[in-house]
Amino acid sequence: MGYKILRKEELIPGQTTMLVIDAPQIAAKAKPGNFVMMRTSSNGERVPLTIADCDKENGTITIVYLVVGKSTAEMNTLSEGDEFMDVCGPLGKATHIKQSGTVVCVGGGTGIAAMHHIAKGHVEAGNRVIAIVGARSKDLLLFCSELSSFCPELRIATDDGSEGHKGFVTEILQDILETEDDVAEVVAIGPVPMMEAVCRVTEPFGTKTTVSLNSIMVDGIGMCGACRCTVGGKTLFACVDGPEFDGHKVDFGELKARLWQFKQQEGESMERFSK
Ligand code: FES
Repeated sequence: MGYKILRKEELIPGQTTMLVIDAPQIAAKAKPGNFVMMRTSSNGERVPLTIADCDKENGTITIVYLVVGKSTAEMNTLSEGDEFMDVCGPLGKATHIKQSGTVVCVGGGTGIAAMHHIAKGHVEAGNRVIAIVGARSKDLLLFCSELSSFCPELRIATDDGSEGHKGFVTEILQDILETEDDVAEVVAIGPVPMMEAVCRVTEPFGTKTTVSLNSIMVDGIGMCGACRCTVGGKTLFACVDGPEFDGHKVDFGELKARLWQFKQQEGESMERFSK
């Protein structure tokens, strides 16, 4: 039996899609920070995606993906009522959430969807959450109404100033860290350069900073080593040791180099698929 798509919504037409999938066993166990590995067919690539939300009562999980290559383009051909061949999860370590006071959650790009689940977890744990979301422009922002439904302190940054602060999420974060003296933790999920920039801002303040690494994954269960990354001088696997790590200890240079290593093959594969 496959995993049926109950709802499909193009959040940003042609670029970012949200799927609500019937997966009661995964929904029952899913926690903020967990991810799933999804395959459209037996020949399909296993695609790792963070669980953006889950509804335990209705047995569904929500995932959001950016159409960036062949596998996500193939996923995007599926419609409501179609099924994924497999959805494996929940995988990875759940976010460590405890009552800690003020937590700033920063999201960029599709990372906003994943950050939304973590922010919700912190609110449910009784923490004050300040959410910061960023995008190039207003029409590329995601999950703002969902976030503001449980998080009154939502701050927005757009590169072109079409919504909220004109500039970067890091500028808002810097301002918060300078004016609030009780920020217990900063959580950042999004493009690697954004997470790296967040860590550069928080480091002088000594604020605990958690990032979610989107390294290349193959099996997602700690067997292949594809997702290895260096954290605090140690080689760790994002799929089983993470995906969340202490951002101040992550070797972002190595992570970026590893993410780019198959760009040519990915481009060729996409070209063949598009023909
Ligand atoms: Fe294979 Fe993590 S994806 S070890």
